[in-house]
Amino acid sequence: MVGQWEEEVDEEVVIRCYDDSRDRIQMGRVEKSCEIGHDQQTLLFTDTLGDPICRIRNSPFFIMLVAEVGNKLVGSIQGSVKPVEFHDKSVRVGYVLGLRVVPPYRRRGIGSILVRKLEEWFESHNADYAYMATQKDNEASLGLFVGKLGYVVFRNPAILVNPVNPGRGLKLPSNIGIRKLKVKEAESLYRRYVAATTEFFPEDINKILRNKLSIGTWLAYYNDDNTRSWAMLSVWDSSKVFKLRIERAPLSYLLLTKVSKIFGKFLSLLGLTAMPDLFTSFGFYFLYGVHSEGPLCGKLVRALCEHVHNMAASDDSGACKVVVVEVDKGSNGDDSLQRCIPHWKMLSCDDDMWCICR
Ligand SMILES: CC(C)(COP(=O)(O)OP(=O)(O)OC[C@H]1O[C@@H](n2cnc3c(N)ncnc32)[C@H](O)[C@@H]1OP(=O)(O)O)[C@@H](O)C(=O)NCCC(=O)NCCS
Repeated sequence: MVGQWEEEVDEEVVIRCYDDSRDRIQMGRVEKSCEIGHDQQTLLFTDTLGDPICRIRNSPFFIMLVAEVGNKLVGSIQGSVKPVEFHDKSVRVGYVLGLRVVPPYRRRGIGSILVRKLEEWFESHNADYAYMATQKDNEASLGLFVGKLGYVVFRNPAILVNPVNPGRGLKLPSNIGIRKLKVKEAESLYRRYVAATTEFFPEDINKILRNKLSIGTWLAYYNDDNTRSWAMLSVWDSSKVFKLRIERAPLSYLLLTKVSKIFGKFLSLLGLTAMPDLFTSFGFYFLYGVHSEGPLCGKLVRALCEHVHNMAASDDSGACKVVVVEVDKGSNGDDSLQRCIPHWKMLSCDDDMWCICR
């Protein structure tokens, strides 16, 4: 048992470690009742494929805590601690993930105590910072972390989503070459170029690149260019760990999906991408470490994204329906990188908020 607590709730709340054999079924119910909307009208459901801790399992240190009232699970939180580089220093960061409190037990302080207990665990693992991500419109989450617990917003990355057109490859410019890098080559580029421009650069980048979910890192260059422009990115296949599903959406989105289903073949003949059916579980390729150098690098970034699209489109399992890229705005709000990345606005969002607390 991690702790007992009865300050603001009439019934006794026990905070303890998650026990897979005992809690898995109840945990599914907690997740289901806490689905988080992408905005007021869209509901995105995460299917953890039967493994509630799938998102942290690959971290060197991780924990999942649950809040229990009687024999009932009413909340949960997950966390992991990782060594990262931050402003040229090696620090340890505790990541807060999957905080959930079921609706009837909200506003009774359970979310706060779950975070506090996780922070204690971070401290016992020598973490220097705690860090979490949420969305601009998640009032409860921002009220709790920023309003009450003293976290500060430090980044607003955009999540760009592009649908995959199964079986249909995009034609890449003939003057652009794309090469898959060996892990050692990728690691050295990351350490030389990406580390300096990334807050919280993971020190164990070699392990991330070697992880079984990592498909690889690609480099794009011009065959005939003396400006020395180049671009790189790495790809994870999320579909082996968890899938997503939209459960509620605005009418326009529903209509577009229906129309796309009916006219899918014609759209494909016209070279257009149909709206994928995101109402049944789907996996995605996650693009990270997008980095580019040189005056002509924009087209190279686009070509890399299209190359990944083609890999997803030719995946026979059809599991990957979208390609997701996370990009940061430049320090002066510059969104030139964002503009090079093919994405659908209606599927993307630029309202993520990353918050940190010492
Ligand atoms: C976010 C969540 C975990 C909060 O749990 P909770 O047990 O209600 O939180 P607490 O009772 O400890 O709230 C602490 C403070 O957070 C703020 N807060 C909580 N819910 C809020 C809301 N709906 N609107 C505004 N502020 C809110 C308040 O300052 C509150 O203090 P107060 O009740 O004294 O005013 C819960 O709403 C939830 O599960 N939401 C869905 C999942 C989710 O969004 N998770 C966060 C992902 S980062």
